[in-house]
Amino acid sequence: MIRLTKVTKEYPRTGRALDDATLHVAKGEFVFLTGPSGSGKSTLIKLIYMEERPTSGEVRVSGVNSATLKPGDIAQLRRRLGVVFQDFRLLDDRSAHANVAFALEVTGAPPGAIPVKVNRLLTQVGLASKAQAFPRELSGGEQQRVAIARALVNDPFVLIADEPTGNLDDRATRGVFQLLREINASGTAVVMATHNLELMRRSDYRTIEMLHGRIVADTADPAVALQAAALRAEDEEKARRVREASMDSPAWAGPRSRTPQ
Ligand SMILES: Nc1ncnc2c1ncn2[C@@H]1O[C@H](COP(=O)(O)OP(=O)(O)O)[C@@H](O)[C@H]1O
Ligand SMILES: [Mg+2]
Repeated sequence: MIRLTKVTKEYPRTGRALDDATLHVAKGEFVFLTGPSGSGKSTLIKLIYMEERPTSGEVRVSGVNSATLKPGDIAQLRRRLGVVFQDFRLLDDRSAHANVAFALEVTGAPPGAIPVKVNRLLTQVGLASKAQAFPRELSGGEQQRVAIARALVNDPFVLIADEPTGNLDDRATRGVFQLLREINASGTAVVMATHNLELMRRSDYRTIEMLHGRIVADTADPAVALQAAALRAEDEEKARRVREASMDSPAWAGPRSRTPQ
């Protein structure tokens, strides 16, 4: 579905952003992409939706090949995948409803079918009651939900999210992540770049780690997966011991028990 083969990307002034990356993402998978700032996550994502072309190597996404692009290929591809960003990128002068409707209009959807579909999408992301609100009237988490609804207009086979929770607080982060999980559970693949260790720890999804433009770890690699599972089990055991210790400790009875009478 998404296949990168020995992909290198060099930018004119900054040099090599992606270095010999080979990667396959299967239909319906959920994949975290992680690594420090500047490690090449956004570049890899831009190569997938073909905003950028590789310097060498090949990117194939749902039958479209970066090495043999034909006119119209990119437009066709963009209609088949959804993308969301850290900064939402909504149209500020349009309501939530109009933002989603606009994305349908540009794909030439029959006008009569648009309102029903927009309502269905806003309901799916939990925002039906705020359909008429403008972006400035919505919280960050709500704005990201609108952006996700917009990314889903064409029933994409993959949703690509570049640090979608990067501007959100913990609560909104968990909400948006839960929504991405639901979207994945309904069959859409998700590729999510994130720094959020907590989200990665709380789930079993495949995690690809990047460093200096290279893929340095992939939990789909059986050896790495085993190691990750062992670490998670260790974490859970540690958390259990901390919980038990805090239940047993005299401090649990509260500060009064230590106050001399
Ligand atoms: N449009 C661009 N032009 C030139 N250099 C870029 C561009 N985008 C990214 N880079 C460079 O590529 C490297 C990787 O950046 P990026 O893919 O944005 O990393 P990440 O998303 O992991 O923070 C960085 O060194 C960055 O400076
Ligand atoms: Mg980035």
